[in-house]
Amino acid sequence: MANWHEKQVIYQIYPKSFKDTNDDGIGDLQGVIQKIPYLKALGITTIWLNPIYVSPQVDNGYDVADYYQIDQSVGSMADVEALIQALHQNGMHLLLDFVMNHTSDQHPWFQAALKDPQSKYHDYYLWAQAKPGQLPNNWGSFFGGSVWEPTPKAPNHYYFHLFDRHMPDLNWQNPAVRQAMIEIAKFWLNKGVDGLRLDAFIHIDKANFKQFAVGESQKPVIDDTFYAHLSRVQPYLREFCHALRAIKPDVFILGEAASASPELLIDYSRPQNDECDAVITFRSIVDRLDQLDSRLPAEFQPKALDVEGMRQRLTTIETKLADVSLPVLYWSNHDMARVASRYASTDYYWQSLKCLAAMLYLQRGLPIIYYGEELGLKNSYLKQLSDFHDQTVLPFYQQALAVGYSADQTMKMLNQTHKMAARGMMPWDSDQPYQGFSKHEPWLNGQQTTPVSVAAETSDPTSLLVFYRQLFQLKQTPLFTAGDEVIQPTANGVFQYTRQLAGQLATVTCNLSDTVQLVTNNDGGQPSLTVGAVDQHAGQLNYSPWSMTVTINDKKEF
Ligand code: BGC
Repeated sequence: MANWHEKQVIYQIYPKSFKDTNDDGIGDLQGVIQKIPYLKALGITTIWLNPIYVSPQVDNGYDVADYYQIDQSVGSMADVEALIQALHQNGMHLLLDFVMNHTSDQHPWFQAALKDPQSKYHDYYLWAQAKPGQLPNNWGSFFGGSVWEPTPKAPNHYYFHLFDRHMPDLNWQNPAVRQAMIEIAKFWLNKGVDGLRLDAFIHIDKANFKQFAVGESQKPVIDDTFYAHLSRVQPYLREFCHALRAIKPDVFILGEAASASPELLIDYSRPQNDECDAVITFRSIVDRLDQLDSRLPAEFQPKALDVEGMRQRLTTIETKLADVSLPVLYWSNHDMARVASRYASTDYYWQSLKCLAAMLYLQRGLPIIYYGEELGLKNSYLKQLSDFHDQTVLPFYQQALAVGYSADQTMKMLNQTHKMAARGMMPWDSDQPYQGFSKHEPWLNGQQTTPVSVAAETSDPTSLLVFYRQLFQLKQTPLFTAGDEVIQPTANGVFQYTRQLAGQLATVTCNLSDTVQLVTNNDGGQPSLTVGAVDQHAGQLNYSPWSMTVTINDKKEF
């Protein structure tokens, strides 16, 4: 398994919101180049960019209209080439997002398919006929409503879209589609890109369209049974990955498998399978659901972290993947609210964010940091319902008002939980207009909710930013990249694990609660990183609220 990617600390950049250098209010690739020194000082070794291809931006770039060109809002081909070169000169790597399940409806393939059903591109997509007044089946789209959209000018004829209706799904059963996607990926690898994040690959196979989901016959039901992890996903994935490794044996293939169980993580990342090197699952994070208001859907209600649930989940993942692949460690991404909005303690804000970072990122696995996380950036505050660009937001808003929440309370809930509010501007310097992100009003109409900035935290030795730097220095030592891991059974509210390699043992102990916790730590090691106050007390250690220690014993005394 000796491969460069096993020692990476990955930083996810949402390009539109990172740094704008041409002052149009939209972040760009030149902005990423400009900030390489910042990222390097943070300890980042690989950057993952959300999609940068030509796109009508219905889903912020995940609707691709031309895979071979860069969207002019973020830059040009020359810019991406310059970025690759600059990163490589700094010993860093680049991962591109690779959207393989669907295209934009503006993609020439789809346009050709619409124009001429006899065109070879018609079979690049998925279609179905229905009885008048009905839909082909009752499957629900992840973005609301049905997966079926009427084909213009073709009565009772529909095309399939799992996400937005402007994002038709590709027909992976067609070998020409599979080959076309391989060619696109090879194009980028030949440009020098080091790896790909495979977007939504788990959906590339679909069930028989005649099969209805259980539920009211015509009301759309979201049900993975019909479009996730089906039997042809792995053969298609294998064919794709194999072709890429044939031209670039050390390519890093990071799969996004939102709903993958630990067993599926094994299948998708087992080296013998020649598929992904590592896989992101959204099921590694566990929330408490017992405090929710049952009158409202769970999705937009704030939830606390379930420390015990997370301990169980991570124990399973770490154990099952021990000899298979590296788990992917992340708290946030562009599809969820920011960690500071979800789990930071109100009374111990900075300490809590340091403890959460240490609790996760020193584990066996690949850390992925979502831009701004290292500053303690929270979700932005979006003022209008339309700013969320999500058709499921209005029904939630109406339902919340109907059961007695005020408009203000409902907007707060949405802003605290919604993915769009997590895509706000990177605050570089609070003394500059728009926090130094741009001189122009930013594309997202959101307000910063916590006064954090790179400038302020760079000059503060106690800042979260400086803590992240220290953490990543530690992370890149062999003990934390290659050591075995054991997650310890501890009191709820405490998360403790050990890492062991040759004659070294590290113990990471985090009090993830607002109360004092007594913890046993008898590894005899020396503290190498500490947050908050930890005192000796009758043979045990007394961890103050949101405190943390990393101790390392390298005297073989354990
Ligand atoms: C991406 C989302 C996107 C979807 C469709 C996901 O997995 O992370 O942001 O909307 O794929 O491309």
